[in-house]
Amino acid sequence: MDTTTKQDWMTIRRDNTTSALETACIEGLTGFTIVSRENKRITLKEGGTFTEFVSCSYMGLETHPRLIKAAHQALKTMGLHLSSSRSAMRPVYLPQLESLLSEIYRGSGVSVFTSTSSVHLGVLPLLGSNSLKGYPIRKRAHWLMDKTAHASLQVLRGILQQFGEVSRVQSTDPESMNTALKKCAENQETPILLIDGIGSMSGVVPIAHLYRQLEKAGGYLYVDDAHGISITGRNGTGYALSTVDNQLPPHMLLAGSLSKAFGGAGGFVVVSDPRDIPSIQMLANPQVFGHSIMVPMLAANVAAAKIHLSNEIDCLQHRLWDNVRLFDSLTHNRLLNAGIQSPVRGAFFETEEDGLTACRILRANGVLAFPVFFPIIAKGKAMLRFAFSATHSKHDIQQLAASLDLVIRAGV
Ligand SMILES: Cc1ncc(COP(=O)(O)O)c(C=O)c1O
Repeated sequence: MDTTTKQDWMTIRRDNTTSALETACIEGLTGFTIVSRENKRITLKEGGTFTEFVSCSYMGLETHPRLIKAAHQALKTMGLHLSSSRSAMRPVYLPQLESLLSEIYRGSGVSVFTSTSSVHLGVLPLLGSNSLKGYPIRKRAHWLMDKTAHASLQVLRGILQQFGEVSRVQSTDPESMNTALKKCAENQETPILLIDGIGSMSGVVPIAHLYRQLEKAGGYLYVDDAHGISITGRNGTGYALSTVDNQLPPHMLLAGSLSKAFGGAGGFVVVSDPRDIPSIQMLANPQVFGHSIMVPMLAANVAAAKIHLSNEIDCLQHRLWDNVRLFDSLTHNRLLNAGIQSPVRGAFFETEEDGLTACRILRANGVLAFPVFFPIIAKGKAMLRFAFSATHSKHDIQQLAASLDLVIRAGV
């Protein structure tokens, strides 16, 4: 970077951020402080009980009696935390969880991290430095960062550049992909496409098609499917793997979340060759120099993994998609993501003030949503994001649709 002419990304973000989010927080339209809850009904510190469409726990597993019981038992046996890196000492639940996840992912290698961001930070330098036997790099890596990839990937640009060039691509635009792959081929570089499976704010990505493209180019597809885990796929393998027969193909790496629909906390990586797992656990920075997940949450993750290996996950998936379909039909397929396999819907507004007005109307009707502004969406615009869950009732969905009708009638 030419530091005399170019601004750093944080300065650009700060200087382009308006006061809309702050206004929303001050008015109690976001940034909620919750004192209690019963499924999707939450009671706020300042009073009032509301139906929330904010949480990314799409299956409602975080209040499942088996997860709660497992966390209680672990707490009694081992206390809150083993404060050490996994290489020095680890709770028994950690290898149990990795073994269950490996079963869910049909024998692929799995390693658990404290977060999805830590997976990226730990695994990508190993991939770029040719440290993973299952993913050999030719001359040098060339990272293709999709425009819509999550901020936890985008922020690693400076680190990734130590291993190869980083180019921004739009993976859904054939010309953008072809140009980038051609350049990699000319320079004998190994292309590594970094993308989200299901966007937290946008739609779904054509994983199977991109996989074929990367495989043909001798490269790799690294998918952050944090939002896709559990909600679809056999045993909840997730959106990305559901598009490739629920089995991780050899040119793909999967980064998942345990903190969203899975019901517990943490992140994990799935790699095609289990023999790469010891290298990841011995070399990935957050695994060597960081803690493992806290004990009760690890035990809850184990209970959640067992649910994923049972029929219960199918019932929860059905309930989630029934709710999403009901919402699409009540809103006449007019919202962002309507009709696609994402548990997220969005209502766009031309101005930030319109978005805030819509939020006020929803709140007055007992509904809480997540208002987003720049840098998550284009400058000056607003979007209300609705996250659906298997534990929303039909009445909750009808209440949201009726509140959105009021927004339309108010002319916003
Ligand atoms: C797509 C995606 N990736 C990664 C993350 C970061 O997750 P974590 O908090 O586990 O690092 C998020 C967080 O919401 C996300 O939406």
